Amino acid sequence: VTIHELDTPALVIDLDIMERNLARVASYAKEHSLRLRPHTKTHKSPEIGRRQLDLGAAGLTVAKTTEGEVMLNSGTPDLLIAYPVVGPKKVARAVELAHRTYVTVALDSFECARTLSEAAQAAGVGIGVLVEFDAGLRRAGVPPEDVLPLVKSVSSLPNILWEGLAFYPGHIKALDDTGRVQLSALQSLVPRLVESLEKEGLPPRIVSGGSTPLLWQSHLVPGLNEIRPGTYVFNDRNTLRMGACAMEDCAATIHATVVTAQNGRAMIDGGSKTFSSDGSTAPDAEGYGEVLDAPGARFHRMNEEHGYLDTAQCDRTLKVGDRVRVLMNHVCTSVNLQERIYGVRGETVEEIFEVEGRGKLQ
Ligand SMILES: Cc1ncc(COP(=O)(O)O)c(C=O)c1O
Repeated sequence: VTIHELDTPALVIDLDIMERNLARVASYAKEHSLRLRPHTKTHKSPEIGRRQLDLGAAGLTVAKTTEGEVMLNSGTPDLLIAYPVVGPKKVARAVELAHRTYVTVALDSFECARTLSEAAQAAGVGIGVLVEFDAGLRRAGVPPEDVLPLVKSVSSLPNILWEGLAFYPGHIKALDDTGRVQLSALQSLVPRLVESLEKEGLPPRIVSGGSTPLLWQSHLVPGLNEIRPGTYVFNDRNTLRMGACAMEDCAATIHATVVTAQNGRAMIDGGSKTFSSDGSTAPDAEGYGEVLDAPGARFHRMNEEHGYLDTAQCDRTLKVGDRVRVLMNHVCTSVNLQERIYGVRGETVEEIFEVEGRGKLQ
């Protein structure tokens, strides 16, 4: 089957680019002795997770327990749930997972650790814990000054193996002037926290951070010894526009068909149910994606199944039946909407990855 025969809309991955992205990050991690536990939220495919493990990843990361269940199909010996596991159903699933692989949970409250400890004790398993601190995103994580007290209380809980620290530097989007200041704050905060724990006889074995935008700076953060990038496997328009990858590193596009073409405008057969509604995070990029085969076309609006292209400034006249490739803003949310990912080499569809983790939100 060739790409021209695929029904649309289809999420297509260039396998050469994906493989290069995977290999490059694996060798960067090796070179700098950083543990790699890739976040699988981007591909949601156990088969791609298996390739990350084959290239040397120490384990895989998920956000939710049901994603973790699916990701066991990769054969991973280690699973990090980088999200507080809150609520009895999720706690029960995390403990069930811990019977089947080594599970670590990144959390930021004693309450979360206590419920995990009780369930793990009842089930006779151990669960790893990373205490998450807020490095500046103001999302999850305790403020830096609360790390030590939380580590102390968590590390004494039965059946909890306190492993270290985690943070998500999602506030650092690009290495512009602001990003450089934020990076330098991180470069002093992380070693300061590690030192304060060491002084108390609680040296962290793992200090886990590392997003895609900050990937190549990870070795410049003293104390950081694990990275969890997710988006790097495919990259997307936001990653590109924020300067964290080049166009030739973007593996994923949506192939879509023009279904309506009027003077100066056209509709493609994918909208928010294909691309997700995530907008551009770059100040100089608008709309919902880059129409690679119709330069100048503006993808400015979506309904569920319609993508609105303004073609007034387009070099090419789009006709009904034409196919275009669109580089989406945010690949992770788009993958979550697809049943499968088509892996192509050149024009040939070489393999199909089932998105087993799609919709696994609990
Ligand atoms: C907790 C956590 N870790 C790691 C990642 C991976 O970051 P990125 O998608 O920039 O590679 C994310 C992404 O949202 C995350 O939320």
